[in-house]
Amino acid sequence: MAPPQTTRAMPFDDAAIAEAAWLILAGECVAMPTETVYGLAADATNPAAVARIYAAKGRPTFNPLIVHVADFAAAGAIGTFNAQARALAEAHWPGPLTLVVPLLPDAQIAGIVTAGLDTIAIRVPAHQAMQALLKAVGKPLAAPSANSSGRISPTRAAHVLASLGGRIPLIIDAGASQRGIESTIVAATGGALRLLRRGPIEVPNAAEIHSGEIESPGQLASHYAPAKPLRLDAMDGRDEEYLIGFGDVAGEVTLSASGDPIEAAANLFDLLHIADASDLRSIAVAPIPGGGIAAAIRDRLQRAAAPR
Ligand code: TXA
Ligand code: MG
Repeated sequence: MAPPQTTRAMPFDDAAIAEAAWLILAGECVAMPTETVYGLAADATNPAAVARIYAAKGRPTFNPLIVHVADFAAAGAIGTFNAQARALAEAHWPGPLTLVVPLLPDAQIAGIVTAGLDTIAIRVPAHQAMQALLKAVGKPLAAPSANSSGRISPTRAAHVLASLGGRIPLIIDAGASQRGIESTIVAATGGALRLLRRGPIEVPNAAEIHSGEIESPGQLASHYAPAKPLRLDAMDGRDEEYLIGFGDVAGEVTLSASGDPIEAAANLFDLLHIADASDLRSIAVAPIPGGGIAAAIRDRLQRAAAPR
């Protein structure tokens, strides 16, 4: 859980966008109106900032997040668009459509945004406030819905305040979201288009994936897990083990030397990739005690360690 703080609400205008941009460049997350629902936005290139999204929402697992960009050119700097993806983007952007495409290796998106996947969900929002913020910040913004985990999605600033008040610094208020439900998500990662989430946009040529498979994206088979065996709650590294430390357990590398779970969440996926790429045969991870985001880290590690 994030430490308590004062949450301000500012009506959408130039001064509010300047304030929101300043906070985001300082590594904070800010609640923003979009045409679908209010989103909790952070700099997608800053892993610690994205970790704060999880801490504020109290999310028990790491789902890959949608990245918002100002236009198709900015999207093309992050992902690879095949002809089908390009046609959908041309037809529906800016608007409530999210496209899952292969992630470009040099995109500089934090590993915690994609939860270590090699694909990325991208959307160009239509809302003026989110567009103004994207231009002011000049970076892609990760933004899930701005509600406490498991609660109803927020379509007004008051919903955000009721859910996240005291846990985020700022809410930009632009009245009710016009659409009121989250964006349609379509995967264009090769082969046929797949509909991952129904939403405001109909995409008739995308085959629907069975809903049971998408309600818990943290359980998707494609979700990143290291190729090597993974041992949890390790106090020291055994032979041929790459130890990822936390707090007093030092390791080859550490999630957080000071034992800060937000810092640990920010480093988790990048360090798993590094451990996986090392010469050693298996991976061990120190204990990560605590609730909130620490529990989300343990959830992810338990999935990664589960026999496949
Ligand atoms: O309308 C919306 O899309 C809102 C507003 C704020 O823009 N945002 C939103 O974001 O709903 P988010 O981060 O909560 O959506 C995340 C969902 C995941 O649960 C997953 O279903 C899908 O997007 N997703 C993200 N990245 C993915 C990937 N690489 N592969 C498959 N699904 C992905
Ligand atoms: Mg949500």
